[in-house]
Amino acid sequence: NWTMSAYRSKMIEKIRDQVGTGRVICGLSGGVDSSVAAVLIHEAIGDQLTCIYVDHGLMRLNESEQVVTMFRDQYNIPLVHVDASEVFLRELDGQIDPETKRKIIGRLFIETFEAEAKKLGGANFLAQGTLYPDVIESVSFTGGPSVTIKSHHNVGGLPERMNMQLVEPLRELFKDEVRVLGRELGLPESFIGRHPFPGPGLAIRCPGGITPEKLDILRQADAIYLDEIRKSGQYDKIWQAFAVLLPVQTVGVMGDGRTYEFVCALRAVTSVDGMTADFYQFDMNFLGRTATRIINEVRGINRVVYDVTSKPPGTIEWE
Ligand code: XMP
Repeated sequence: NWTMSAYRSKMIEKIRDQVGTGRVICGLSGGVDSSVAAVLIHEAIGDQLTCIYVDHGLMRLNESEQVVTMFRDQYNIPLVHVDASEVFLRELDGQIDPETKRKIIGRLFIETFEAEAKKLGGANFLAQGTLYPDVIESVSFTGGPSVTIKSHHNVGGLPERMNMQLVEPLRELFKDEVRVLGRELGLPESFIGRHPFPGPGLAIRCPGGITPEKLDILRQADAIYLDEIRKSGQYDKIWQAFAVLLPVQTVGVMGDGRTYEFVCALRAVTSVDGMTADFYQFDMNFLGRTATRIINEVRGINRVVYDVTSKPPGTIEWE
């Protein structure tokens, strides 16, 4: 794509001009946006960039390892992996309000990031994978003028506190354009095509209290669901698909025994930008097969339901 190749060169020049010989720190989330930003900035200024990956313990199965391996070993981008899961889970313990969860995660994220940046001896610049829709959504959301439906923590907060200048090479782009740029930069297709994943991670897919046990159950169910979606060739037709672990236990029967376990809700939507969405129309056989696998393979779930709510009136995430 020649347009994106021109954009890439233009942004590399711009980043070099802005940064000079300064040091840049980039918070890596494991998502497409911050990854593309990091690779682009690394191409521009090399090891003047250090990435920090704050692992909040709310990622999906094996996700953190994959991200760290890719950046450190494949791209040779200096990367600090901070395992802060203990602190995050401790502070989230007993919290059930969605916005409170977001606030706790946002605050801890900033504190952890800040502490690591200090250990690195500081930096003049903070890089973020902010997209054009992030800029708009942080101002107002789809609920109508000036109504905040959900507070997204990926914009704002850090720069003011840390007294750093922002480097935001994706600020003019939409998601699909970031993907084109990522391809242009040689990021693997499996990574580029990944569904968006929210900053607060599995915390907002675990309505009610969050415990390590529940997170573990959710991770297993989610991995099976995504595995079935990939195997059936539907992954790229879907904007986002994920499992939600409901704080509800139901009675079931397995063998000759009674079970009393959690309900897992499956969600999949199509969307252009996440602002509106339609529930994805799976074939019933697919859903039946997936439900059977989840119930058979995951200890702790004995019932699976499918969410047929579109946005609006629902939102994509349950919290
Ligand atoms: P909703 O649930 O508001 O989601 O329809 C729209 C898109 O935003 C993602 N999302 C978040 N992303 N921090 C994020 O970084 C958040 O707190 C958050 N809440 C929702 C969601 O996954 C979807 O892509």
